Amino acid sequence: MNKPLDYIFPNPPVGLNPKALDISAIPQHVAVIMDGNGRWAKKRALNRLRGHKAGIEAVRETIRCASDLGVRYLTIYSFSTENWKRPEEEVVGLMDLFAKTMLAEVDGLHEEHVRVMTIGDMSMLPAETREAFDDAWEKTKGNDGMTLVVAVNYGARQEVLHAVQACARDIAREFAETGKMPVVTEELFERGLYTAGIPDPELLIRTSGEMRVSNFLLWQIAYSEFVCTDVLWPDFDRYELLRALLEYQQRDRRFGAVK
Ligand code: IPE
Ligand code: IPE
Ligand code: MG
Repeated sequence: MNKPLDYIFPNPPVGLNPKALDISAIPQHVAVIMDGNGRWAKKRALNRLRGHKAGIEAVRETIRCASDLGVRYLTIYSFSTENWKRPEEEVVGLMDLFAKTMLAEVDGLHEEHVRVMTIGDMSMLPAETREAFDDAWEKTKGNDGMTLVVAVNYGARQEVLHAVQACARDIAREFAETGKMPVVTEELFERGLYTAGIPDPELLIRTSGEMRVSNFLLWQIAYSEFVCTDVLWPDFDRYELLRALLEYQQRDRRFGAVK
């Protein structure tokens, strides 16, 4: 469902040319570490939660733009397994913001044919937040547009452990039934990941100038291209996404081979 580039990017800043984008080489899967909400708020002498609220508009615009460009999967890192260490007020505020935003946005996403799913341990979330995500999945699971993967209470090490545990159970069952030890293949292992069935991201974007992975998608980013920008997440918009995609398209992806 690609739309014309001048419709998607109506007012490009000087020096940025949307026509330079090769629409036939858009990544299937873009993953984003949305960072810098707190610093955005601090610069304005606002409470950190105001930064998270301002970040919602950037999420909305990124979803719309990615979907218009024909991206098949957009994964957004929204809350990590380490983010529980933050002050209670911020954690409670974020959980409330997730629930309210999901409730408010689900109909619009459904109209855009977006399918909304989550990765992470949802069992630890407050009931309203979990239910808002569950309801969004129920409503949109039949959609054939872009899949929005919201990483909430997500940690890559926890995900890898989850996959190892699933493998161990499969192996024990098969051994009990047949007396033979099955071989653990990449395919068997990947079946236990939260992202089972989703292609690995070709592009990983991190905002706010940080250059670390912060426990995000460790297995899946083995060959992802990283684009780090100094822009704080609430200032991210379609033109920043365009810049990241243009940079991605300049990269020489060799996968260990010689070109
Ligand atoms: C990212 O922004 C959002 C979440 C981790 C929930 P931060 O809240 O980490 O913003 P900074 O890094 O403090 O600026
Ligand atoms: C990573 O950002 C998590 C999310 C964006 C949800 P953090 O702000 O939590 O990461 P660190 O603490 O800078 O590594
Ligand atoms: Mg941060």
